[in-house]
This record gives sequence, structure tokens and C-alpha cells, in this order.
Amino acid sequence: MSYEQAAAAADFIRSNYAAELSTAIVLGSGLGAFAETIKNAVRIPYEKIPGFARSTVEGHAGQLVIGELDGVGVVVQQGRFHYYEGYDMQQVMLPVRSFGLLGVKNLILTNAAGSTNSDMTPGSLMIISDHLNCLGVNPLRGPNDERFGPRFPDMTEVYDREFQEIAHQEAESIARERFDKGRDAELTDFIHRGIYCALSGPTYETPSEVRMYRQLGADAVGMSTVPEAIAARHMGIRTLGISCITNLAAGMVEGGINHYEVMDTGARVAEVFNELLIRILKRIGH
Ligand code: HPA
Repeated sequence: MSYEQAAAAADFIRSNYAAELSTAIVLGSGLGAFAETIKNAVRIPYEKIPGFARSTVEGHAGQLVIGELDGVGVVVQQGRFHYYEGYDMQQVMLPVRSFGLLGVKNLILTNAAGSTNSDMTPGSLMIISDHLNCLGVNPLRGPNDERFGPRFPDMTEVYDREFQEIAHQEAESIARERFDKGRDAELTDFIHRGIYCALSGPTYETPSEVRMYRQLGADAVGMSTVPEAIAARHMGIRTLGISCITNLAAGMVEGGINHYEVMDTGARVAEVFNELLIRILKRIGH
């Protein structure tokens, strides 16, 4: 069933945009502005695409934006489906699976995340080196369709090492160009590598949970990305993950966490973030 659904979605997208698509990008909370950098884009609201659910979260637009950036064919998901919204994992994975069937080879997953590592402050970026799936479920649970991939996928390198290296190099050169030379503190604080821990949400964590996830090895906590990364790994799509650190996780500073703070930080880093994505695309998209 789900293969046919992904194929129907892919056919529909193809009927709206015929040129080659090499790379898909999923934009996280507060990071949707990147889609505006694509000129002459074709926009498809999710409700028009067979099988796609609607995005119900504030700060998520709910459409595909498809076009070219520096000669690279990209399909951008402006708004994603989260498990906490009540969708089942088939619905959460459907967009990435349909991109895979469209022939997309590379995937860039972005998200807003809370830092559990006091070295990573709000406004910095974290290149995901690995993840902890603490969603309480594996999205591939259930019958396996071999046309997507194997029953027991290898998870040794979910996030492509070469892509991590490229993202790191490009982030460092942006930092060097933008910040005064010699101000190494800012330069090292802007870009990090770390482990993303996915939680089902929709509550933010308690301070005790934050301590627990930190002890388990998490550098950042969030409510997305891992189901899509697993779907991509299953299909052999090369994946890069970037977290925008929007806040220190609960209990690390005085006061609570709210969604508006999360979206504001996204907007604050948007310019640098967009520049980074464009540079990465130029290197991986061809
Ligand atoms: N926890 C979980 N998800 C998040 C957070 C957080 O602190 N910030 C942004 N997304």
C-alpha cells in the first residue's frame, strides 16, 4: 500500500515539474524562508498531492517548492509532518519516499532543536553526526516492501560522512568571511557536530529528562528528522542533517521554553543558514 502511495505522490509531483531533481531539502520550524531563494519555483500545496497529510504546526507552511538553484534541481519541503501531530509513521515518511521514487539522490534534513550541550548556544548550527531514536517506535516497523529497501537496514552511517565534511567546511568559510578574523570564539561557536536525539513530543522535556538524554549521549533534542533519515537510509538516499539550535534545553537556564522563541531564533539565523544551504547544494547537487 505505502509503495503505491509514494509512487502516486511521485507521479503527481512529476506531472507538475518534469526536469531532473537531484536533491530534496526539508525545512524545519522557523527555517522556511530558504524556499524563497528559488526563482521561478513551482509550488504545490500538500493538500493537492495524493496521500500527503496537511501540516498543522504554526511556522510550517505546508507546500513543496520545486525549481533550480545554480543549476541544481531541488524539491523543498516547506513544512513537514511530525509524529506528535498524530500522523502515523507512513505519513511522516511519505514525502521522503516519494522524493526517492522521483530519483532524488541527496537529502538535506533541517530542524530546530534544543541544546543539551552547554558548548552549543542558541543561534549556532549543529551538523548531525548520528542520532538517538527515542521516539518510542521505529518508523519501519511493519511489513517491509523490498522496493524501498531491505528488512534490516544498516544504520552505521545514516548521515553521510562526506556531506558532513562539506557542510562543516562551508560553515567555517562563512564564519571566517562574516566574523572579524581572529575572533575564534565566535567562529568555533557558530558550527558544531553532534548527536541529535529525537523525542515524540509535543511537550518539551523536563529538566530531569534533559539530564538523562545528555547522559545517553545527546547534544541536541528535537521532535523530527529521525523518521525521515531512516526512510532515506532505507532507500539508499545520501543524507545530511543540520539542526538550528534555537534554545538551551529545559533546566539549563532559568525560565521555560516556548515555540515563539524557537521560531524567532530560526528567523535570526535565516540569512546565514540560507547561504550555507546554497553553498552545500553547489557542492553536492551535481
Ligand atoms: N526540545 C525539543 N524540541 C525542540 C526544542 C527543545 O528544547 N527546541 C526546538 N525543538
